[in-house]
Amino acid sequence: MEIQNILVIGAGTMGNGIAHVFAQTGYNVTLVDLDGDRLQGGIGTIAKNLDRQVKKEAITEADKEATLGRIQASTDLVTSAMGADLIIEAATENPAIKAEIFRTLDANAKEGAILATNTSSISITQIAGGTKRPDKVIGMHFFNPVPVMKLVEIIRGLATSDETYAAVHQLSEKLGKTPVEVHDYPGFVSNRVLMPMINEAIYCVMEGVATPESVDTVMKLGMAHPMGPLTLADFIGLDVCLAIMEVLHKGLGDDKYRPCPLLRKMVAAGHLGRKSGKGFYQY
Ligand code: CAA
Repeated sequence: MEIQNILVIGAGTMGNGIAHVFAQTGYNVTLVDLDGDRLQGGIGTIAKNLDRQVKKEAITEADKEATLGRIQASTDLVTSAMGADLIIEAATENPAIKAEIFRTLDANAKEGAILATNTSSISITQIAGGTKRPDKVIGMHFFNPVPVMKLVEIIRGLATSDETYAAVHQLSEKLGKTPVEVHDYPGFVSNRVLMPMINEAIYCVMEGVATPESVDTVMKLGMAHPMGPLTLADFIGLDVCLAIMEVLHKGLGDDKYRPCPLLRKMVAAGHLGRKSGKGFYQY
């Protein structure tokens, strides 16, 4: 089946970034969010990020308008699901919400449609198990900021077919990204490696080994990371970091993945990073 119509669910940071790159590559995109304000906000962010590309002369004003012209906004998941060849769910990172969305997609999407999720840590096999088409369910994990980061981590659930994998691999290359094949274990590869590093950086702060600024400087200047781990944690969201550590700890059963108590405390206080205005740094 030729893939031309893409449905992206969730107009938050990841969803609007995913819609942006598909539309810019020439696909017809429907961006769905149940919250009309967030939907408009997502479209506004895409326009702003396209403007940034125009200013850098990476694209023209006409490219920007054409890209925006390929994106439709909708609050109607059922109707939008019917017309899509590929659906990428980028809703909130909550297993019950994702399960409900996949039930709706399974009941309404075309028979051949691929159902992908941008989850950063929920099991693809578990999401697929709630549908009657587990062979068509796959993880398509993008990285923030989506228009900039080159990786797509493609996660195969236990029942994902070779055909589904091949279609998503090829599509990721068309987007100008580099796909990497990964099997479905907690945290996949990206967060299994990244999050324990962030968690350890938080232990360094909690134990008074160094300040957040010093920890970040060590990793930026000593290891050439573009952002230090605590700046990155604020960027990702401390609640997201905690949720992923819980998945690693529970799913792998090893105490080396225990979330740092300071991370728990900051999330409990509502210090979630950039999105709440305060995390390891003030915004
Ligand atoms: N949309 C489009 N372009 C963007 C953009 C966006 N949202 N954000 C930045 N850019 C572009 C800029 O225009 C600039 O373009 P040029 O190279 O053409 O000039 C380029 O990206 C670099 O941006 P800046 O100069 O503004 O800033 P920077 O050099 O400090 O880079 C950064 C910013 C790309 C975010 C860089 O700091 C970085 O790579 N940080 C690490 C990000 C990271 O690790 N992301 C993964 C998070 S984990 C995740 O997403 C998944 C998970 O499961 C938790």
